[in-house]
Amino acid sequence: MPAIRPGTKGGVISGWGIALPEKVLTNHELAEMMDTSDEWIVARTGIHERRIGGSTIGLSVESGRQALEMAGLDPSRIDGLVLATTTPDKQWGNAAAVQNELGMRCGAFDVNAACSGFVYALVCGHGLIAMGADRVLVIGTDTLSRITDWDDRGTAPLFADGSGAVVIESVDGPGQLLGWDLDADGSLLSILQAEVGGYIRMEGKEVFRRAVRIMVDSAEKSMAHAGISADDVALIVPHQANVRIIDAACQRLGIPMERAAVVLDKTGNTSSASIPLALADALDNGRVANGDLVLFVGFGGGMTAASCVVRWGGGVDD
Ligand code: UT7
Repeated sequence: MPAIRPGTKGGVISGWGIALPEKVLTNHELAEMMDTSDEWIVARTGIHERRIGGSTIGLSVESGRQALEMAGLDPSRIDGLVLATTTPDKQWGNAAAVQNELGMRCGAFDVNAACSGFVYALVCGHGLIAMGADRVLVIGTDTLSRITDWDDRGTAPLFADGSGAVVIESVDGPGQLLGWDLDADGSLLSILQAEVGGYIRMEGKEVFRRAVRIMVDSAEKSMAHAGISADDVALIVPHQANVRIIDAACQRLGIPMERAAVVLDKTGNTSSASIPLALADALDNGRVANGDLVLFVGFGGGMTAASCVVRWGGGVDD
């Protein structure tokens, strides 16, 4: 992927929001449903509980509304809505339905790049800003419980539901995005997939092995485009699939785990929502200051990978 051309109009994230279904499903409850245990799930994944329920459109409206409120923007001022989801409620028009419920009138479209979807959508959002949009709402939402086979202990403990959203506003100057990388390798489609109307099917070990490699590869490309090294990264916001994957990727990148945003212990793997959920948690806990370099990195079915480097606040110091 090319580096960002000098002079490209930039943006900054000015608001964020999340939505999680009310129903908590713990590992202990799962162990009553299938041949598994809390010990196994925690040791192999880091997940303790997850949230189940809701619709993709409903959760998106909730997180999107919060992000707009934090940005202090009337919905009518949004120029574009990008909804990343791999579990749409409808064959098409999911973003349009969210747009309508939020009272917006703008271009609205769905992006499906599995668990890399939010970073794909974030890069698309910056692309719209580069082409003249002033305010873009980017939402990542998935309701994976609907395509989870609850008789398959190899996948059921992992996947869950949730949503996260950010508002990007255009600024004078280059803005926050310093480097990005989008990748896909369709020859690996079969190791993690779901047919339309079917369940998630996964070769867990193979996905694990590939995931670490493609996350590291993509993150290194984004950092190279941004002209930064791993030492410069204040916070890495990785896809929340398995804490062992995050740990292995961080080790290979040379980023200490203390600098990683991790929420999967409470959320499980929410696919397109996992990165904005982890980002919002880090922001709400004061882990990011203006000027900090934040590295986003996702991977998912396809197999897709996506990463980007953001200077929080677009270079404006506190
Ligand atoms: O968004 C991307 C989506 N997917 C991923 O990122 C998933 C990537 N893969 C993984 O996270 C891991 O491969 C898993 C968590 C899915 C599995 O962990 P693992 O350490 O690779 O375990 P395994 O598949 O090698 O299984 C080890 C053992 C097996 O038993 P034996 O053959 O050693 O007797 C499994 O049958 O654990 C058994 N097992 C379970 N035991 C209790 C598999 N699933 C379970 C379970 N509870 N839920």
